[in-house]
Amino acid sequence: MKRFISDKVLGRKINDVVFEASQGAIDASNKENGHRVINGAFGTFFDENGDLFTFDSVYELFGKVDRVQIAKYASGIPGPKVFRDAVKDWLFTRNNVTIDSEVIATPGGTGALSSTIKNTLAPGETVVYPEIGWGPYKTIAAQHNVNIATYDMFDGDAFNIESFVKTTNEVMDKEGKVLVFINDPCQNPTGYTMTNKEWDTVLTHLNTLADKGPVVLLHDIAYIDFHKEGHYGRIFNKFRNLSENMLVVLAFSASKTMTAYGMRVGAQVLISSNKDELEAFKHACENTARGVWSTVNNGGMMTFASLVNNKGVQEKYKKEKDWVMNLLDERASILMDEAAKVNLDLYPYKEGFFVTLKVTDEAEKDALHTALKDAGIFIVNIKGGLRIAICSIQKAKLKGLAKRIKDVHDAHK
Ligand SMILES: Cc1ncc(COP(=O)(O)O)c(C=O)c1O
Repeated sequence: MKRFISDKVLGRKINDVVFEASQGAIDASNKENGHRVINGAFGTFFDENGDLFTFDSVYELFGKVDRVQIAKYASGIPGPKVFRDAVKDWLFTRNNVTIDSEVIATPGGTGALSSTIKNTLAPGETVVYPEIGWGPYKTIAAQHNVNIATYDMFDGDAFNIESFVKTTNEVMDKEGKVLVFINDPCQNPTGYTMTNKEWDTVLTHLNTLADKGPVVLLHDIAYIDFHKEGHYGRIFNKFRNLSENMLVVLAFSASKTMTAYGMRVGAQVLISSNKDELEAFKHACENTARGVWSTVNNGGMMTFASLVNNKGVQEKYKKEKDWVMNLLDERASILMDEAAKVNLDLYPYKEGFFVTLKVTDEAEKDALHTALKDAGIFIVNIKGGLRIAICSIQKAKLKGLAKRIKDVHDAHK
């Protein structure tokens, strides 16, 4: 019998471990001993009072955006020129990176990821991403009916190049092309940032792989503005000399950059020395935009453009962002120092919004996750570990957290 729902999507539902954990924390907070509850689920930055932090610099600019600009459609499907130029300036020009690129506005980084899968792979082909990675990658892949192959993120405390090479080789041999995701810097969920050498090895491999078939590298830069070096030119410069058979797609997100998670502003930034292929890909992505979301939030794009073009406000923005990054650093240090003292195993954190407990035995991890909930600690259950969003936990609450987790762990062993 036919149903309302298409057979292709039967059984699909939202299984968002972040929202689930956060709801658990909110419910528990309303009960007795609510002050002991830790809500370490959400990847949005909360200040030391527990309020969602918003950049004054950004919202002052937003307040000045002409209401006609907020009301109107964007002046083009790929986004207004002033926005597209601003993205290039923010990522490249001001960081002394000279590189040709094409920008297509997308609703957040999520739109960029989704459009890239859709326009690279046919249903049944395979997307490659890290085994320990952002949960929605899986949901986005399912939207396009593509298979998933994963590479191990780490070999000890370093990027697992061997696994990256093996998985991408296998997919190339089987399917004749590769779409692979790398999330760097400040990887979600581990907080890892790859070294120059690791990037060199990755790119040398992908360049060689491109002799066998097209290689699309989706570089997810959702947390780029929280990289401690201040900019990321050292990596973008490497994209200037890639094989003709390689396309790099940066998935840019203004969600963290502007503390504008709900504004849904982002972009695909396309880089390739093969101009004809790049052009064809760009057209397909623009067509996706028209057919899936139409245009992106114009007020949000205008706000980003005025942030990029307003040197005075940028100083204020930088000060505010430094304050956020110092806090992240302090929070990470509290957790990591205490974890070391009580022998809690963590993935190699360098910077960013999350620290992840390493629990490789899945059954043990699931049991620990449940036991932690009972103890009022709500963190996110991911493959290979439990993600702690230090971006949303105040210092006072982080103090003692490692021991609380360790005690729960030992009691349930
Ligand atoms: C790793 C990663 N990629 C992409 C995104 C996409 O974010 P948005 O769609 O809000 O821009 C996020 C958001 O949390 C993320 O953590």
